Amino acid sequence: KILILDFGSQVTQLIARRVREAHVYCELHSFDMPIEEIRAFNPAGIILSGGPNSVYESDYQADPALLELGIPVLGICYGMQWMAQSLGGKVESGHVGEFGYAEVGTVANRLFDGLADKTLPNGEHVIEVWMSHGDKVSVPPQGFTVIGSNNSCPVAAMADERRRLYGVQFHPEVTHTRKGREMLHRFVLDICAATPSWTMPNYIDDAVARIRAEVGDEEVILGLSGGVDSSVAAALIHRAIGDQLTCVFVDHGLLRLNEGQMVMDMFAKNLGVKVVHVDASADFMGQLAGETDPEKKRKIIGAEFVEVFQREAKKLTNARWLAQGTIYPDVIESAGAKTKKAHTIKSHHNVGGLPETLNLKLLEPLRELFKDEVRELGVALGLPHDMVYRHPFPGPGLGVRILGEVRKDFADLLRRADAIFIEELRNTRDEDGLSWYDKTSQAFAVFLPVKSVGVMGDGRTYDYVVALRAVVTSDFMTAHWAELPYSLLGKVSNRIINEVRGINRVVYDVSGKPPATIEWE
Ligand code: XMP
Repeated sequence: KILILDFGSQVTQLIARRVREAHVYCELHSFDMPIEEIRAFNPAGIILSGGPNSVYESDYQADPALLELGIPVLGICYGMQWMAQSLGGKVESGHVGEFGYAEVGTVANRLFDGLADKTLPNGEHVIEVWMSHGDKVSVPPQGFTVIGSNNSCPVAAMADERRRLYGVQFHPEVTHTRKGREMLHRFVLDICAATPSWTMPNYIDDAVARIRAEVGDEEVILGLSGGVDSSVAAALIHRAIGDQLTCVFVDHGLLRLNEGQMVMDMFAKNLGVKVVHVDASADFMGQLAGETDPEKKRKIIGAEFVEVFQREAKKLTNARWLAQGTIYPDVIESAGAKTKKAHTIKSHHNVGGLPETLNLKLLEPLRELFKDEVRELGVALGLPHDMVYRHPFPGPGLGVRILGEVRKDFADLLRRADAIFIEELRNTRDEDGLSWYDKTSQAFAVFLPVKSVGVMGDGRTYDYVVALRAVVTSDFMTAHWAELPYSLLGKVSNRIINEVRGINRVVYDVSGKPPATIEWE
């Protein structure tokens, strides 16, 4: 396994993704992980991430003893600068930073050999990379040779191959570095000789054994939301302990069209999982009546959810465990609060956020997995592809997509409009053969409680408005509105207005995030 030390770069998670793609297990830890813990972790190699700081700031120092462990180390950007400085080399502030595409000439070395993107007439091998840095190494430490350089960055890569220490100023983890993935795989598989045993079948066997060992013959409850994470967690735990698992599915009345039925069919009928279906829509609607403030609506839905779930959980008197679909990015996010500043724009409600008063032990079998690994696992466990590759859906559901007061009649109109939009996205393919559903990261309809005038047949209408929202994003922190074809938008609009009585106008949201958010509330 590989250890990645995070100095706060925006793209550290990508390093972990690339390593896992080589079927090597890795973990991401903060740069200040104590040396005893690093030894105990016993990695085959260490990767030091980039970061926004300067090596001359004393706050961002790892323990230099990690360079003396005799295991290979690869420093990326800040990681390389830290390595250079710790071993007696020199780092200087670049007069002009370098951002974006760059070409780097290389000399023979184990990291890039055979990975050149082109060869110049003079025989020099060149790699095409992506740079993003202000500072740079000016003098490599003793024992190092320069293995990559260009005019603006004379030490673009360095190595002490005897000690197996490597540094690159560019970012091999981003796809703009054309052979970046191969370089990382070369480091992990050849230089570190890590075992590529991280595969889905191995993972399932392991996880099933671990869950059985942990839980023994005790009972487990799990809050099933219909989302990917809780669904995959349920399928995995059910594979491990069968009927010792009971799922509680709280229907808050703010789900998508037929969603409750779909969840029950898939889990209870197809997979034979015990599911308690709680129809709490009347309670939720009651609590929400008259409330128009977005933050208060979120708090009401969150609190009511916890209440209903607890009530149901308490009925299962044999349960000793609460299972949750926590995934690795959630774990990193809470652990990495030190290197990354979180800024709360909206209070998030999650099925996971249950209080400790239930007195149950926590079971989180997906804690090590990235989202795409969770999806892969779901498919391997027999969940339908469409379900596993679904767009994310927020915990408060349609509650944040009905602006202002939440009413059942509004929710019913919205559900039908939304289902038409999603159906058309799934059925319309672009020239590249992908459906627009797969080409967008998230898409949905929003109910606007304002009326506008229209004409239908011979009559005047005075009905509500629906807005369509579709975005493309890689991390949901920033997003572009999706450039859907006009013909698709036209068809969706026609169908909604014709099929959903009560809606006579459809608009498309062309706002990016920032400054808008993805959801409207
Ligand atoms: P915003 O609207 O903040 O949304 O740009 C970013 C992403 O987060 C989702 N979202 C939520 N997910 N509980 C969730 O589990 C919530 O309370 C919540 N609020 C927003 C949103 O759908 C988008 O994918």
